[in-house]
Amino acid sequence: MTTIEGLDPELRERWARQFSAVGASQCGFCTPGIIMRLAALAGSDAALRSASGERASALRRAGHEGALDGRIRSALRAHLCRCTGWQTIVEAATDLLGGATGEEKDHKGSARRIRSTDPLLSAWRAQLEGGHIQSNGPSIALGGGGFADDTAPRDALVALVGRDGGVVVGENLVEARRLSGKIQGRNSSRPLAYPLEVPTGEWALTLRTTWVEPAYLELDASWCRPGRTPASPLANGGAFGGKRRSPVPGLARRLADETGRAVRVLWSREDVVRKGPKRPPVAIGVRADGTGVIRVARTPGSPSLSSLHDSIVSVAGGFVVEEVDVAGPPVDPGLRCAGWAEAAVVEACLRLQENREARVGVPVEITGLDGGRARVAIVEDGSVAVEVWAGEPLDEVVLRSYCIGAVHQALGWVRSEGVAVDETGQPCDLTIRSFGVLSALDTPRVEVTIHPSDHWPLNGSDAVFVATAAAAWWADGLPPQWPTLRGRT
Ligand code: FES
Repeated sequence: MTTIEGLDPELRERWARQFSAVGASQCGFCTPGIIMRLAALAGSDAALRSASGERASALRRAGHEGALDGRIRSALRAHLCRCTGWQTIVEAATDLLGGATGEEKDHKGSARRIRSTDPLLSAWRAQLEGGHIQSNGPSIALGGGGFADDTAPRDALVALVGRDGGVVVGENLVEARRLSGKIQGRNSSRPLAYPLEVPTGEWALTLRTTWVEPAYLELDASWCRPGRTPASPLANGGAFGGKRRSPVPGLARRLADETGRAVRVLWSREDVVRKGPKRPPVAIGVRADGTGVIRVARTPGSPSLSSLHDSIVSVAGGFVVEEVDVAGPPVDPGLRCAGWAEAAVVEACLRLQENREARVGVPVEITGLDGGRARVAIVEDGSVAVEVWAGEPLDEVVLRSYCIGAVHQALGWVRSEGVAVDETGQPCDLTIRSFGVLSALDTPRVEVTIHPSDHWPLNGSDAVFVATAAAAWWADGLPPQWPTLRGRT
């Protein structure tokens, strides 16, 4: 097996620069593996090999770009990227295999891409969109985001969650795994559950949602020396709000103090599914006059949901918010646009319904909580047209990348994502593959138009996320439950 460190250094740099040039890497956790896949594809696929350089340009002019795009997306089926929404990765690959550079080539329908020459401005835009300190650049695409477990001392003890839910500590990973006795759980064939009922009433529109994972790729990890500050599980990104209350740093500090040694704490995917926060399921009923009720699921051990009330009422002033206790995994109001997104989507679709708008090509406009604005339409061919107003762009490549990522996440949320939970509240789908995150092949083309201004920079991708959710639900015919297209309800 060859990892990114074993790739020819010149080739490695070329891929890294290309990924950075088009915004194909955000947190950078997935990209080393993806670069290896694409480099191997370029080396093994005769058609791609012959399609490099001049010939690829000629093929593209002759209309073969779609075939190249399809082969790249197909190869990406082995991977998951939660941040970028695939498109920029495909663009990086087609550019590089075609001999163009990201700086030279402009993609059909996209705003002219302007790479900031100032890494601080790029990082500022990334931080605005990702909600946490974040940098980008070629080194990030090579996995240099500073992930906690990459920085841990080699002789650190390793702490894992054991079979009984307690913590086991071993001299190394192999010993800790043996002591834990745990085998990673699989996914289930159990139907998705909708823990809340819409209250009885004369509703013009209703919506129920299920348990949804933030599905960040980098699992919760931390390490700590005795008496020191633990490594943050948030390395180069905000994990969509999912790690803000992660207990792993506190546990690393406690175990380090108890053992007098550096300790690494690692959660498996199953641990993240069972212990990590989910988006709170909701049940909404709205009347034609815009008044209504939004019920929000509250589970034992979850933080207060009081912050949801203000944000929901700020976008849907006619809604009464009811918290309802249910059995289930933890929920967190800090997950991306939780609560207000659902309220804003129902409000926006109510207006479309009143005006009897067509199902496709109709733009939905949403203003985010901090003033960023987006207009999104699902086009007849299934592609997604995005316009965004986010003040001064700072770095259009980065802003565009986050907007495309937001579209990908919103489409998955509305159409395919969910985690089955049993009657006792235990999650049953325990692998990331079972969450329904859209693959590269299933993700439509996104065209982003950035409307620059010299106003103070604002988050734009959250408004894109919510507007895309509304546009997709509208285009799908407003089924009363999400996900709308998954084969199990
Ligand atoms: Fe792919 Fe973050 S850049 S998971």
